[in-house]
Amino acid sequence: MNKLVVSLLLTLGVAGAATAAQPIKGDAAAGQAKTAVCGACHNPDGNSLAPNFPKLAGQGQRYLEKQLHDIKSGKRTVLEMTGMLAAFSDQDLADIAAYFSSQKGSVGAADPKLVERGRALFNGGDLEKGMPACTGCHSPNGAGIALAGFPHLGGQHSQYVAKQLTDFREGNRTNDGDAMTMRTIAGKLSNHDIEALASYIQGLH
Ligand code: HEC
Ligand code: HEC
Repeated sequence: MNKLVVSLLLTLGVAGAATAAQPIKGDAAAGQAKTAVCGACHNPDGNSLAPNFPKLAGQGQRYLEKQLHDIKSGKRTVLEMTGMLAAFSDQDLADIAAYFSSQKGSVGAADPKLVERGRALFNGGDLEKGMPACTGCHSPNGAGIALAGFPHLGGQHSQYVAKQLTDFREGNRTNDGDAMTMRTIAGKLSNHDIEALASYIQGLH
């Protein structure tokens, strides 16, 4: 009897691990066909032209897919996208993430007056405040670490980046997990720090 329960648990455990280890594979071509409505704000190739709409082109697939799930479930509030993802299945979201991830991201320019302060914070953090460097997770060129779900930041619109850092700081964006990584880091940033980092990131590549 005991043996049976143990072997049952083992079987279930192994089956569970196998499911978790197999994420849905996204199909970029299928994804493109599902993004007609997105282009109005994010541009058809994901290189949005408006500074308040994030660029999606070249963003890590895993990060994009997570955001799509979070936006769909309401865990992350994006009023402009209300209801837009409701009809999409998990496979659709994986396809859409694969499509935008496969596009080449464009780069902007940093404000020369802010670039030094931005670079120092991005690469070195702030020892006094106990703030880690951004490079550890987002890498020195801003490429992020796609497999870990750490987003690509380089070339992103500074206005969008500044809003995200402010939202994390003020607790208006809370989908950074139980570790609250970005909320904790943003909590140590002044408005001036955020402005400098966002400008530096816009020109980073
Ligand atoms: C009416 C404009 C609009 C449309 C249409 C729209 N979005 Fe968005 N989207 C936004 C805005 C604004 C944000 C950022 C909100 C914020 O400041 O947090 C956003 C954020 C996102 C993000 C998070 C990006 C990041 O870097 O974290 C993803 C992914 C996304 N949109 C995908 C889509 C997809 C896929 C579609 C089409 C199904 C779509 N959006 C349609 C306005 C739009
Ligand atoms: C320990 C790892 C880590 C460090 C250090 C870190 N980040 Fe992040 N960051 C993350 C993760 C993970 C996310 C994605 C959270 C989610 O899933 O929504 C993120 C998200 C972001 C976003 C939102 C991106 C988007 O497209 O919406 C911005 C902006 C950002 N980080 C900027 C920074 C800056 C600036 C620093 C340094 C001051 C920094 N991060 C340091 C891990 C980190």
